[in-house]
Amino acid sequence: MMHVLSFTDFEGMLEELFETAERLKREPLGEALRNRTLAMIFEKASTRTRVSFEVAMTQLGGHAIYLSPKEMQMGRGESIADTARTLSRYVDAVLIRAKRHEDVVEFARHSEVPVINGLTELEHPCQALSDFFTMRELRGELEGARLAYVGDGNNVCHSLMLGSAMLGMHFSCATPEGYEPRKEVLERALSIAELTGATVEVVHSPEKAVRDADFIYTDVWVSMGQEEEEQERLRRFRDFQVNSELLRHAPGAKVMHCLPAKRGLEITDEVMDGESSVVWQQAENRLHVQKAVLLKLLRP
Ligand code: CP
Ligand code: NVA
Repeated sequence: MMHVLSFTDFEGMLEELFETAERLKREPLGEALRNRTLAMIFEKASTRTRVSFEVAMTQLGGHAIYLSPKEMQMGRGESIADTARTLSRYVDAVLIRAKRHEDVVEFARHSEVPVINGLTELEHPCQALSDFFTMRELRGELEGARLAYVGDGNNVCHSLMLGSAMLGMHFSCATPEGYEPRKEVLERALSIAELTGATVEVVHSPEKAVRDADFIYTDVWVSMGQEEEEQERLRRFRDFQVNSELLRHAPGAKVMHCLPAKRGLEITDEVMDGESSVVWQQAENRLHVQKAVLLKLLRP
């Protein structure tokens, strides 16, 4: 049994997942997960992850149950371990979006069914998997592709950085000082890159990061749970906006965003609605790629 807690849990199966997703995008598979149930625990807001996973289960003939911790006994103090043990007796997999990554790890430790990280403060593996699928659709070969990430060294950045390293890509990340990706994640990515021929760098100049990029990626400056830091962050990230001026340094690059976007902050309307933007293709692909993940984890 496997869990998907970090992007690195996709090790050895990336190509298979991409090929399955490609097939599913062309011809939806009717009943492969008939009678299978996915529990989805959301401790934070979600539009795309919640809906795409639920629709994926429905379209594969299965069922998804949305659970809010506030309405579960967990909200009244039942332990994560006991919740995991109980849900394992009913459902076939559990998707969790949690405030603390360690809670998802703890859940997985006591779960008898696969656990999928639907975003924590540390990683967003299903988002990144789907984004690499989008890049593959647009460019073909991922090995050697150049991905520039501009903004906060956050959960999405971490999963993209690990994935780029695994896929032999060139990942350049530009953040303000003090907002770099976590050191332990960077070190992990660098050691994977040594084996795959990928390059991973962290800089403080957006112009430098995006030079020769195939893809420019950005995400919100204030992630869920960081609302108290908002004013400080808005000030520190001012020069890290993805706008037409920045795109001039990377002609031909496609612009990506996991969404939701704060238009006018990390990305301008002009860029998000412009010709380089592939954000809606990205959003759609969550559905196809997560179906591939669900089949991998749940098919009897
Ligand atoms: N990109 C993403 O995970 O979006 P949601 O927060 O809407 O799920
Ligand atoms: N970094 C963002 C991603 C949202 C999908 C957050 O954690 O809020």
